[in-house]
Amino acid sequence: MDKYLLEIKDLHTYFTTKRGLIKAANGVSLKVQNGKTLGIVGESGSGKSVTAMSILKLFEHNQKIHSGEIWFDGEKISSLTQNELRKIRGNDISVIFQEPMTSLNPVLTVTRQISEVLMLHQDMTKDQAHARTIELLGLVGISNPEKIAKAYSFQLSGGMSQRVMIAMALACRPKLLIADEPTTALDVTIQAQILKLMNELKDELGTSIIFVTHDLGVINEMADDVAVMYSGQVVESANSKVIFSGKAKYSHPYTEGLMNSIPRLSDEKGKKLEVIPGTVPHPLDLPPGCKFAPRCKYATDKCRVEEPELVEVEKDHHIRCFYPESGVRSDGEK
Ligand SMILES: Nc1ncnc2c1ncn2[C@@H]1O[C@H](COP(=O)(O)OP(=O)(O)OP(=O)(O)O)[C@@H](O)[C@H]1O
Ligand SMILES: [Mg+2]
Repeated sequence: MDKYLLEIKDLHTYFTTKRGLIKAANGVSLKVQNGKTLGIVGESGSGKSVTAMSILKLFEHNQKIHSGEIWFDGEKISSLTQNELRKIRGNDISVIFQEPMTSLNPVLTVTRQISEVLMLHQDMTKDQAHARTIELLGLVGISNPEKIAKAYSFQLSGGMSQRVMIAMALACRPKLLIADEPTTALDVTIQAQILKLMNELKDELGTSIIFVTHDLGVINEMADDVAVMYSGQVVESANSKVIFSGKAKYSHPYTEGLMNSIPRLSDEKGKKLEVIPGTVPHPLDLPPGCKFAPRCKYATDKCRVEEPELVEVEKDHHIRCFYPESGVRSDGEK
């Protein structure tokens, strides 16, 4: 079996707007390993959701893949039509969104919704599908599955709806689960339970997961590999241990900034956290050269005019920076 289940190569996904072309994914490259979780992290507006939704072309009317390729399980799925992708959705690839309420159908009971998926994609009879639904609800940690199966989505709490969404997403034993901020709307206790559940399911079913969030703590807990996004591009990707080690030989200055903004238990009391000054550039007003240069304390004249490529600096570690060696960078020296 190939090591990678999904590969995105130089993806450009654009929005056509009255004010101009918004290059929301502007050369994204990343890979998801079989049976592993890739965490995609980055500030708001960096293109995480656009990248994740490009996989199944879950697009708005003014949105389209301009160029690039997406390969899934040996097939170039970026060439498929929306209709063809619909067959993959809920079969080989499932998606969980931030707002479970809006994704569940309010006029159908939980069992109807999950059963329909099973009957459609797995040729089950109604009775088989109902039995499997009860089993799935149990698997996602619902203690009274028979009762919940009869409920309508508006009768469920946020945490319960998200569990139902996960059960529905897993109904077809997908090879890939795309979860875009699946726990952001939930309180911390429920969030922790759902994350634990997703990890268990990954281990039991061998599902690969793309986990999108701007919460580094969650990434640390969930991800085997990490892709850090900035302004529509991946600026660094590596094994999660490398990213979170805090002493990697190579790192992107943006990742370094993100890491320095996480409070650590070992920090002295009252120590001020380093927050990266400035904001993500407006997509209609991108700087020339490196997109991060205006906020980078190490930026040189070269960075302000030339754009660095995403380069493999060591095995399975990619960085988009002219000065990827963390030890030798120092403010204003270059
Ligand atoms: N419908 C739209 N029309 C035009 N531009 C859009 C649209 N949706 C998103 N964008 C732009 O695409 C870029 C990337 O957005 P995206 O939603 O992928 O960010 P994100 O990293 O998921 O952020 P967040 O953490 O807030 O969810 C942003 O600059 C955003 O303004
Ligand atoms: Mg998003």
